[in-house]
Amino acid sequence: MGTEAFTTERLSGKVAIITGGASGIGASAVKLFQENGATVIIADIQDQLGQALACKLGKKVSYIHCNISDEDDVRNLLDKVVAEHGKLDIMFNNAGIIDRPFGSILDTQKSDLEQLLAVNVVGSFLGAKHAARVMINQRRGCILFTASASTAIAGLGTPAYTVTKNGIVGLARTLAAELGEYGVRVNCISPFGVLTGIAGPIDEGDIPRMEERVSAMGNLKGHVLKPEGVAQAAMYLASDDADYVSGLNLVVDGGYSVVNPTMMKAMSSKET
Ligand SMILES: NC(=O)c1ccc[n+]([C@@H]2O[C@H](COP(=O)([O-])OP(=O)(O)OC[C@H]3O[C@@H](n4cnc5c(N)ncnc54)[C@H](O)[C@@H]3O)[C@@H](O)[C@H]2O)c1
Repeated sequence: MGTEAFTTERLSGKVAIITGGASGIGASAVKLFQENGATVIIADIQDQLGQALACKLGKKVSYIHCNISDEDDVRNLLDKVVAEHGKLDIMFNNAGIIDRPFGSILDTQKSDLEQLLAVNVVGSFLGAKHAARVMINQRRGCILFTASASTAIAGLGTPAYTVTKNGIVGLARTLAAELGEYGVRVNCISPFGVLTGIAGPIDEGDIPRMEERVSAMGNLKGHVLKPEGVAQAAMYLASDDADYVSGLNLVVDGGYSVVNPTMMKAMSSKET
């Protein structure tokens, strides 16, 4: 038997940046990555929330203000992290926005689309670009993106949002090809609906009822997808457990995007 210490921490010794880490899925990932031994840098524009989370988690979690649509902010973020920690193992490009939960192309202003593109596509692109600059030199690293289950099936997001999330999957695939040369893995996580603040503030008391509604719309009954569930998928892709996984769009949707329930519903209503 070897003498090295056994650890159950799956990200032990790794340095990770999580954009949009101040709330929702990103905040869950910050917590989970830290619990699993990573040093985590929260990059967000919600300074108070981000700083409070870093303070609460204490050891090995810090906050840096970064508007991902601004290339100077992103360049500074990467430069600061490498100056302080000497490397970057995981760049989780998770920050994103929606225009509205549902809506027609006819209700979409050009400015809505431009705003979504600026954050979801340009922001993810810049995060990946500056991470690649560091990771190519290191000849290792892992770049992750949060896309959406709307990349796997139609009808889950607005037209503008869906455009941006499919752009992210395309970016991830092309970077998996380009950066594989340097030992850098690139993957996406694509969640089904999760209750977070993305569509506006949620009243604590409404959470059970809203979760029930989302769960009823889903395929996997009796389960609710929470931010922690998406964070677990991100941790798998970020960890050495996935060390030969690249170019994957990991859809976390309880099978929703591969099931068309129409026939099953028609058959069961005939039988009754
Ligand atoms: N909640 C869902 O149902 C769902 C489903 C599929 C995909 N997603 C994706 O998950 C990701 C996280 O969203 P969430 O649901 O946790 O929402 P959230 O609003 O709780 O978190 C998003 C975070 O991104 C930050 N952010 C927004 N614009 C930014 C910018 N320009 N620069 C830096 N940070 C910025 C916000 O401040 C916030 O902290 C997004 O990319 C979203 O599109 C969410």
